[in-house]
Amino acid sequence: MRLTDLPAAGKAEKAKMPPAAWLFFQRWMANPKSMGSITPSSAALRKLVRENIVCGPDEVVVEFGGGTGAITRALLEAGIPGERVYSFELDNQLARYLRGAFPDINVIADDCRKAAELLGPEIVGRVGTVVICIPTATLPPSVQREVVDAAFSIMPRGNRFILYTYMPKSTLNQKALNIRGKRLDWTPLNVPPASVWGYWRDEQPA
Ligand SMILES: C[S@@+](CC[C@H](N)C(=O)[O-])C[C@H]1O[C@@H](n2cnc3c(N)ncnc32)[C@H](O)[C@@H]1O
Repeated sequence: MRLTDLPAAGKAEKAKMPPAAWLFFQRWMANPKSMGSITPSSAALRKLVRENIVCGPDEVVVEFGGGTGAITRALLEAGIPGERVYSFELDNQLARYLRGAFPDINVIADDCRKAAELLGPEIVGRVGTVVICIPTATLPPSVQREVVDAAFSIMPRGNRFILYTYMPKSTLNQKALNIRGKRLDWTPLNVPPASVWGYWRDEQPA
């Protein structure tokens, strides 16, 4: 789809859109590559993510790319207390929105590739699941590697991260990244239809 195919973003359209969707759309126009989608994840995708979160009683969950919080909401719906949710968001406007919408969670307005350094020794090693929400399909291989390494660097050995994608196949080059992936589930009820994948290093997926 080209930008010119979209409806003019005038007052009428803004009035019809919920604030999160409107902000998401605006940030997509400003930075389409980093956003990866023109609309936040659906309730159906949120459910798939919720069902695939692993978080022990003393663990936290870390999100890479909070956006307007569709997946953040899934983490809270999974019963994880806000103070044990950490969301990295590079875009300052979106980080500010997330802080307002989810005052109990920890929003880190910075690059998820710095996760180990920014979370510090108190959190590193206590991360049950990393949820990668940044658009991995369009990342250069070197950046894919940095994001994947950042996810594994904060979890105990053997844990897996999850991500969602609109692609029919894995968006990560498993051989090059020394990881093993498995499509955990998918839903047609997202725009576009989406799959949730889990990726392991060191261990074969069950
Ligand atoms: C597809 S949006 C995800 C939004 C939300 N999780 C959802 O599912 O609706 C991707 C988000 O990742 C953020 N992002 C991209 N690269 C990032 C990075 N290196 N570190 C942190 N956030 C990043 C973008 O600003 C954008 O908000």
